[in-house]
Amino acid sequence: MSATHDRNLLTDSPELYEARFPDPERIAGRWAEDCLRRYGAGPRVLDIGCGTGRDAAYLHTAGREVTGADRSAAMLDHARRHHPGPVYRHADLRSFELGDFDAVVCLDSSLLYCHTNDDLDGFLASCRSALTPGGLLVAEMRNGAYFLGRTDLLDTPAHAAFLWRGTSHRSTTTLRIDRAAQLLRRTRVWTTDDGAAPVEQRSAWRLLFPQELRHFLAAHGFTVLALYDLPGPRTEPRWRAGDTVATTADGDRLHLIARLDP
Ligand SMILES: C[S@@+](CC[C@H](N)C(=O)[O-])C[C@H]1O[C@@H](n2cnc3c(N)ncnc32)[C@H](O)[C@@H]1O
Repeated sequence: MSATHDRNLLTDSPELYEARFPDPERIAGRWAEDCLRRYGAGPRVLDIGCGTGRDAAYLHTAGREVTGADRSAAMLDHARRHHPGPVYRHADLRSFELGDFDAVVCLDSSLLYCHTNDDLDGFLASCRSALTPGGLLVAEMRNGAYFLGRTDLLDTPAHAAFLWRGTSHRSTTTLRIDRAAQLLRRTRVWTTDDGAAPVEQRSAWRLLFPQELRHFLAAHGFTVLALYDLPGPRTEPRWRAGDTVATTADGDRLHLIARLDP
C-alpha cells in the first residue's frame, strides 16, 4: 500500500531536493546573473519560487540585494539556515506584494505552478507592480511546445535512484497530459530500502506555449527580449558563460527574458 500526497516530497524536503538535483557549480544562479548583467538590471532582485535558496544566495554573492520568496515553509527555513544573505519571505507567486525590485527571477519551472490563466494573470500583475519601469523578468521552465508531436517523456516511466543519508531512494515518475486543462500531470512513487511504505505524490505544471507566453507578457506590459530553448542551466549541453543563444523554442526548456515597458 502506498500513501498518496498532494504535497511534494522534494519541495517539502529541501535537503533531499538538493541531493536529487545537485548544482554544485551554481549554474542556474550563474545563468540568471549573466542574464541580469547582459540586460543591465539594477541591484534589487526577487527570486520568486526560490526553493532551497541556493540561486538567491548566488545572486547575493554576486553583489545583488536579493529577496527569495516561496510558499513552502520548509524551503524557507532551509534557505535561511543553509543559504544566508538574501532576505527570505513567505509568498504565493500567483499574487504577491514584496516591495520594489529591478528584476524578478523565477527558475526551474516555478512559474508553471500557475495552472490557470487567472494564476498567470496574477503572477504577471504582481511582477508588474513589483518591478520598476524597465525592470526585467527572467524565467526558466519546461516548454509546453516540446510535447506537440513528441511522446518520449510520456511513453515510459522515468526511474531514478540515489543514496541520501545512508538510505537508498528510488523514484518512478509518470507524466500524463491533461489536454483540456493544459497541464502536465506528474505521479511520482518513492520507495526506500528502510522498510517505509512507498509514497505516491501528484503534482502538475502548466503546459505553456511560446506564443501564448508572448501574448500574456504583452497583455501585462512586457516586451520579450529573448525566448529560446538552448542553452540553459538544465539543458544538454548545459549553458556556459559566453554561449550564443538559439533563436528556436523547440526543445524541452524555455528561457525567457522580458522587460517591463517604461
Ligand atoms: C521545482 S522547485 C524550484 C526551486 C528553485 N527555483 C530552483 O530552481 O531550485 C519549485 C518551487 O516553487 C515553489 N512553489 C510552488 N508553488 C508555489 C506558489 N504558488 N507560490 C510560491 N512558490 C511556489 C515550491 O515550493 C518550490 O520551492
